[in-house]
Amino acid sequence: MTKPQGAGAVVAVVGASGTMGAAVCRELARRGARLLLVGRSLSRLRAAELPEAPTVLADVTDAACGDRIIEGAATHYGRLDGLVNAAYLMSADPLRQLPDEVLEEVFLVNAIGPLFLVKRILPVLPRPGGLIVSLTVGMPEPAAPEQAGYAAAAAGLRAAIGALAAAVRDEGIQVLDVEAPPVGCPPMGPPMGPPMTPENLAQQIADAIEQDRQRLRPADFRRA
Ligand SMILES: NC(=O)c1ccc[n+]([C@@H]2O[C@H](COP(=O)([O-])OP(=O)(O)OC[C@H]3O[C@@H](n4cnc5c(N)ncnc54)[C@H](OP(=O)(O)O)[C@@H]3O)[C@@H](O)[C@H]2O)c1
Repeated sequence: MTKPQGAGAVVAVVGASGTMGAAVCRELARRGARLLLVGRSLSRLRAAELPEAPTVLADVTDAACGDRIIEGAATHYGRLDGLVNAAYLMSADPLRQLPDEVLEEVFLVNAIGPLFLVKRILPVLPRPGGLIVSLTVGMPEPAAPEQAGYAAAAAGLRAAIGALAAAVRDEGIQVLDVEAPPVGCPPMGPPMGPPMTPENLAQQIADAIEQDRQRLRPADFRRA
């Protein structure tokens, strides 16, 4: 990473064991960031072919997840410059069949937990130079019936993140709201091309960080 956080920036990645989280970790490390890998399971983090980096075990639905990240960053690096949230839980049934507790969990993982995280982490980020990246996946409109729970949670998260981005920009904090096309789909904007890969998406997310952007939408992503 060169701008605005600088090479050597310490970035915590929540959901580092997942497809997108792992790809973003590899890309940020390639650009010189120092990582804190956050997940619920050490074995899943180890299985994800991640760059060598300290780990923090935490659940994003726990309001104290951000506190654990801050403690881990202080212990291992003495600072925290950025947060990437790539935790994700897709709803699998149409609303009428979706159990109440699953709907609640979908909102906790995809909207409420990420906002707990941001609330905790924002105050400790450097000004200028702090970074928050929020990932969601673009859905067709209207979303498929079984995606209703996720689509609602992701739209809510994007609304809150957009408001935050505007509020903290003058403090020198970059908040980047990424709504990316699904892996395996062709890019949505011209030119059409081969399906997007996690690596290609991660490169474009890292470029957007360096360009100090606030939003990436599915049509902004280019082909590989
Ligand atoms: N896949 C795509 O096509 C795609 C494309 C564009 C954008 N995105 C976005 O990228 C993000 C990640 O998607 P993905 O495809 O990489 O998902 P994924 O492969 O299913 O990974 C999900 C990640 O979320 C973590 N997670 C789930 N529940 C959690 C919780 N309660 N606390 C902490 N971590 C939790 C998992 O960690 P554990 O090891 O703890 O389970 C895992 O690392 C999402 O925001 C998604 O919308 C995905």
